[in-house]
Amino acid sequence: MLRRRRGEWYARAGSYSKKKMTRLVKSVYDDQDELLASMVGLHSGGVIECDVTCGRGMFYRYTLEPPRLMFDIAPRRRGVVAADVRWLPLSDAAVGSVMFDPPFLYGAFTARRRDSTMAKKYSTVPGQIKDLVEFYVEAMAEIYRVLHPGGILYFKCQDIVDGRHNAFVHVMIHDMARAVGFRPRDLFILLAKSRPIQYNLYKQVHARKYHCYFWVFEKRGRHGG
Ligand SMILES: C[S@@+](CC[C@H](N)C(=O)[O-])C[C@H]1O[C@@H](n2cnc3c(N)ncnc32)[C@H](O)[C@@H]1O
Repeated sequence: MLRRRRGEWYARAGSYSKKKMTRLVKSVYDDQDELLASMVGLHSGGVIECDVTCGRGMFYRYTLEPPRLMFDIAPRRRGVVAADVRWLPLSDAAVGSVMFDPPFLYGAFTARRRDSTMAKKYSTVPGQIKDLVEFYVEAMAEIYRVLHPGGILYFKCQDIVDGRHNAFVHVMIHDMARAVGFRPRDLFILLAKSRPIQYNLYKQVHARKYHCYFWVFEKRGRHGG
């Protein structure tokens, strides 16, 4: 099911060869399409059945086929159905794999920059970081409902600085997912291509983040696990 526009490499992601180590699925990538192909090839046979925050569908440009079910609260692409990820128009255990790439900005973070390109491109959750986290929990509970046992959730996320404190969002998501009933199956890191430098920084307190994550969670149940 994987596209071969960038060569046969993607179709065989996940296979291991001593001679061709480049085919080995790795935990760190600097190319999102390569990461997606490798991750989805390894964990759900190269197929994503449902994307619940599809946006412009950037994940399906080169290596992956568009999912058969595409949702977004504000559809921007043909074939995407308007739906809130917290109330999906799907029956229980309807799908085997779900992509979730939610907003990672929240109200307080973007209030000063209401028109920022980042806020427009990725959208925001109103309120504080606790509201963002609450949104993630509600969304994961709904995704859990629509996945069949053994089904896979891919969750793109990133850590942020909240005030002067690091918010390790990917750790929070891990804990929330386990509480909802998921089993963490894998974790991938995507390195940023552009790395802007903040020149007016008076005193640096935390490392500047140039990466994001893709969690792979499995709905427990297929083998009673
Ligand atoms: C980070 S963007 C996703 C980008 C997407 N992966 C792409 O390739 O364009 C987040 C998306 O979540 C959508 N969204 C925000 N709140 C939502 C909700 N409650 N239910 C469903 N989609 C939501 C936004 O409209 C936005 O398209």
